[in-house]
Amino acid sequence: MKFFILPSLLAADFGELAIEVERVEAAGADAVHLDIMDAHFVPNLSFGPDVVSLARRVAPSLFRSVHLMLTRPDLYVERFVEAGADSVQIHVEADCDIWETLATIRACGARSGLVLRPQTEVSMIKPYLRLCDEVLFMTVNPGYGGQAFIAEVLPRIAELRKCVAGTEMRTLDIMVDGGINYETAADCAAHGANMFVAGSFMFKQNEMGVAVTKMRNLCAAAEPKLSE
Ligand code: DX5
Ligand code: ZN
Repeated sequence: MKFFILPSLLAADFGELAIEVERVEAAGADAVHLDIMDAHFVPNLSFGPDVVSLARRVAPSLFRSVHLMLTRPDLYVERFVEAGADSVQIHVEADCDIWETLATIRACGARSGLVLRPQTEVSMIKPYLRLCDEVLFMTVNPGYGGQAFIAEVLPRIAELRKCVAGTEMRTLDIMVDGGINYETAADCAAHGANMFVAGSFMFKQNEMGVAVTKMRNLCAAAEPKLSE
């Protein structure tokens, strides 16, 4: 399995956003993760499509993963894809037609992702798996960077990985987001995750490139050997 490391721009220095995007690219990260918050679905506001455009302008070939923490993500999918989103993740708890919104993301030419809050059961997303390129397990309550990892999510990651093993969905990408550092990333990899969003941990590094490579290697070493 391939392992992907995605620094989250939420932890960047907002006074130097362009330089911070360059830093993510120079670190050899697989993508930059952009967290969009509406102060309704989550109790915080972040930024809008302009920051996605800025990332595209500064680093056109750096993949942009856009996590919509919005009550009505369906109203914004097109705008974020136009701004440069390569993948768009929507929450299964959002107030919209999930099936239709995932289909719209794909129809716009982006990868589609479905996100679960830490308390949400895997059974909630199962009906939509065929329309998902990736599933994102929140490992903190969405809304803020810098929170502690919630280990209770680990068995749910394993449950989903087991559920898709041996099926046509076996290549499904499973992403984790929140409180990710070397240790928690390896724990998630051991339970079947292969994409790792890390905000505060990555941006506090003096050498982000060293950390990206080390995290990727630790995750690859922790990969479970599931029978297909
Ligand atoms: C939280 C966001 C995360 C956040 C992670 O709602 O979805 O992407 O940036 O930050 P850390 O890695 O600091 O927990
Ligand atoms: Zn996120």
